[in-house]
Amino acid sequence: KGTKEQLIIDAGQKHFGATMCKSCGMIYTASSPEDELQHVQHHYRFLEGIKYTGWKKERVVAQFWDGKIVLVLPRDPSYAIRKVEDVQELVDNELGFHQVVPRCPNKTKTFLFISDEKRVVGCLIAEPIKQAFRVLSEPTGPGSPSSKECHRAWQCSDVPEPAVCGISRIWVFRLKRRKRIARRLVDTLRNCFMFGCFLKIDDIAFSDPTPDGKLFATKYCNT
Ligand code: ACO
Ligand code: ZN
Repeated sequence: KGTKEQLIIDAGQKHFGATMCKSCGMIYTASSPEDELQHVQHHYRFLEGIKYTGWKKERVVAQFWDGKIVLVLPRDPSYAIRKVEDVQELVDNELGFHQVVPRCPNKTKTFLFISDEKRVVGCLIAEPIKQAFRVLSEPTGPGSPSSKECHRAWQCSDVPEPAVCGISRIWVFRLKRRKRIARRLVDTLRNCFMFGCFLKIDDIAFSDPTPDGKLFATKYCNT
């Protein structure tokens, strides 16, 4: 998460009221002109970025009561690739990732969760990998630092283990979180990554997880 956002939240708790926009989900201070301006700029770019107009050729790989999952592959028409790039830019912005180049761009699979309101509310980017390093479990309970505090300081094993599929990005629109969208994206990935087989949990790995990502991954992998 960007430090900017954190500053705004902190300021909000101490002095002004922090507001969350009900359509773009940005948290900002309504009483601050700079914040208001930043919000307006973010607001339209974001809503434009996640707008999904529907495509002539779309690869629907799962359908639900509240939306559907569309798979985009590297050789798809440019309108689909452009949408994926736009969404990835928004996601990378939020995650604070900069210019992460995929290892095999021609083997990347992108899953978009499209809501009934015709918006991209979830995104999962996966690529083939050969090995991964297991995140070692950390002590939890009273006295140990909360997962938010030890941001990305997870201990990793130094023994590589075979893996098949790496999740380089997983993201759900802030206002749609905790509705099992991420879970459904990963289930669908496991079903569609390799033709004719359902990937085991051990076959997939989350790269450089954020605190949110780790909480989700821990839960997903144990159930
Ligand atoms: N805190 C605690 N538990 C969580 C959290 C959380 N923030 N998020 C998910 N879980 C657990 C819960 O047990 C949840 O089940 P429950 O709601 O029934 O209790 C279970 O995981 C399944 O959660 P979903 O609803 O499927 O997850 P969601 O759709 O909310 O998406 C995600 C999770 C993608 C991590 C979302 O919070 C997000 O986009 N965060 C910001 C971006 C980010 O940090 N992405 C991960 C980056 S790491 C990477 O890309 C490899
Ligand atoms: Zn907004």
